[in-house]
Amino acid sequence: MSTDPAPQPHATAEQVEAARHDPKLANVLYHDWEAGSYDDKWSISYDERCISYAADRFRYVAGDADWPYGRALELGCGTGFFLLNLMQAGLAKQGSVTDLSPGMVQAALRNAERLGLDVDGRVADAEHIPYDDGSFDVVVGHAVLHHIPDVEGALREVLRVLKPGGRFVFAGEPTKIGDFYARRLGALTWKAATTVTKLPPLQGWRRPQAELDESSRAAALEAVVDQHIFDPADLEAIARRAGAADVRAATEEFTAAMLGWPVRTFEAAVPPGKLGMRWAMFAYRSWQRLSWVDRNVLSRVVPRGWFYNALVTGTKPAR
Ligand SMILES: C[S@@+](CC[C@H](N)C(=O)[O-])C[C@H]1O[C@@H](n2cnc3c(N)ncnc32)[C@H](O)[C@@H]1O
Repeated sequence: MSTDPAPQPHATAEQVEAARHDPKLANVLYHDWEAGSYDDKWSISYDERCISYAADRFRYVAGDADWPYGRALELGCGTGFFLLNLMQAGLAKQGSVTDLSPGMVQAALRNAERLGLDVDGRVADAEHIPYDDGSFDVVVGHAVLHHIPDVEGALREVLRVLKPGGRFVFAGEPTKIGDFYARRLGALTWKAATTVTKLPPLQGWRRPQAELDESSRAAALEAVVDQHIFDPADLEAIARRAGAADVRAATEEFTAAMLGWPVRTFEAAVPPGKLGMRWAMFAYRSWQRLSWVDRNVLSRVVPRGWFYNALVTGTKPAR
């Protein structure tokens, strides 16, 4: 029988207050609260679009010469976006999903079952992974390292549960410079959208005040759940200090992030469904084109620290 704690999707005001000084509690409350709507909010799917997105991230930093791996583990799985899509792409046949948020583990297990994947799940802190030494051939994570207070400790745990020669891949981590421009562009877009939609002719484009207030409260917890922004060289140094071999960091999304953050913020500021499918396709295709330019052209001239997303890989030294 599972001994995992139950999700807490409706935190009390006292819990939220306590979470302001406790990043792990903030992560549990914030992500338990988000678990039910997370896939919609971030346009996460388990079809070709996200399968190729996940596989491309892995290949970009680590290649796929060793596919398929035996047993795979994901840390901070959320609803399962990264590992479930990687498994569908052929990364591994057997997987384990873990997250600090019980609501997220439940959502990931529901998605895995619906997709017919062989996946078990545990509520787990990445700093104390509840699996035996040498259990996994590959460990992955997406947008999780920046939430973990002790990143080096978590990577030491990753190396402990990997078999000798096993690989880890973490993607979707914000860089210092990327976070600087993304946050400013997002804040400007929010201000512009919520101001303009106060004008009487545009009020049909205004999201209900209660939902805007909720977004602002969420933003307050977001400031606590986000613990780090990384320089790619620092990320490599942390992984090496943890004991990893063959360490390599890569970055991606420069102009794509400058488009992506205002677009996502604008979508969050207007009523859900208001923009429709044509807008969604336009935004996605534009992001894809800019990502191509970033990776194939700008990466030759723009320093890697200026890109928004960092990825890091490494292996457990073979004995
Ligand atoms: C931004 S979400 C990303 C979720 C998913 N990987 C994705 O890309 O959609 C970060 C996830 O990390 C989890 N998390 C935060 N701190 C953690 C920790 N110390 N150990 C394990 N998971 C953690 C959160 O609960 C949340 O589900």
